Amino acid sequence: MNSMVDAIKKRTSVRSFEDKNLGDQLKTEIRKLVSENPAVPFSSPVRAQFIEIENFDVSKLKKLGTYGVIKGASSFVSATVQKGKYDMLDFGFYFEDLLLRLTALGFGTCHLGGTLDRSEFGKLMNVKENEVIPCISPVGIPADKRHFKDRMLRFMASSAKRKSSEELFFNSEGKQLAGPGLEKMKEILELVRWAPSASNRQPWRVSFDENRAEFHIKRSAIYGKLIEMTIKHDLQMVDIGIAMNHFHHGIKEIFGTEVKWSDDQKHQNPEKSLFVASCTW
Ligand SMILES: Cc1cc2nc3c(=O)[nH]c(=O)nc-3n(C[C@H](O)[C@H](O)[C@H](O)COP(=O)(O)O)c2cc1C
Repeated sequence: MNSMVDAIKKRTSVRSFEDKNLGDQLKTEIRKLVSENPAVPFSSPVRAQFIEIENFDVSKLKKLGTYGVIKGASSFVSATVQKGKYDMLDFGFYFEDLLLRLTALGFGTCHLGGTLDRSEFGKLMNVKENEVIPCISPVGIPADKRHFKDRMLRFMASSAKRKSSEELFFNSEGKQLAGPGLEKMKEILELVRWAPSASNRQPWRVSFDENRAEFHIKRSAIYGKLIEMTIKHDLQMVDIGIAMNHFHHGIKEIFGTEVKWSDDQKHQNPEKSLFVASCTW
């Protein structure tokens, strides 16, 4: 099996693709990955699907809302999650897992939670009343050069940057980590730090003690309101699920142990954040 840690290090949002059909062999590889069903922390039912738009049909791509932002891709992966307490978090964990496995095989991907038409994807996926589609992703061979809008989007979201470790990682009292202890975890924390997030807001805050981590969310007020009014899906909770996925694979590959997720809180919340989930290993 390919290393998920390597895929995490390699992944970046790709919006510019080689403008050609993927061919049967690659499509079969994608379908195989889509049919794998990774376990999610709180067991929300998620189902994924491979979606192809025949002959790069521009009118169909425009209808899906991805045209303009994404160039050269006519294949997508999409997933639905059943509504429930942890739906967005479990979706983020699941979908990032799929995008990382696609990255490991050399495909380019990009979470799209804002720039898509959910009702059109809903029709293609036969979405039921108790299901939602938080994000989809194009899938294809990355182009050599990023197109203009892609470069603009990356510039506006400062996509090549992340908050510092001091802003993101804390001890069990919710205080900044200092001194020894951090060293052992450093590589894993870097995997969390470089996780993708909607508009690159990085809402996760993580606290630690020896065999335990707790994930907290620090929402940005204005962004939260904007999302509530327009997109109506809690994309920042999707972000938390994505960061948890990176942590999960980091612990698994670097420490060689399994991670157990729960909703049990023992640590204090780092400043102005709210507890979401915890894990032990
Ligand atoms: C939940 C989620 C939703 C996103 N929605 C969009 C989107 O609608 N359009 C877009 O161009 N990028 C979208 N992105 C990509 C982010 O802008 C990108 O992950 C971030 O800027 C960091 O860049 P990187 O992925 O290259 O590391 C989304 C990412 C996440 C995690």
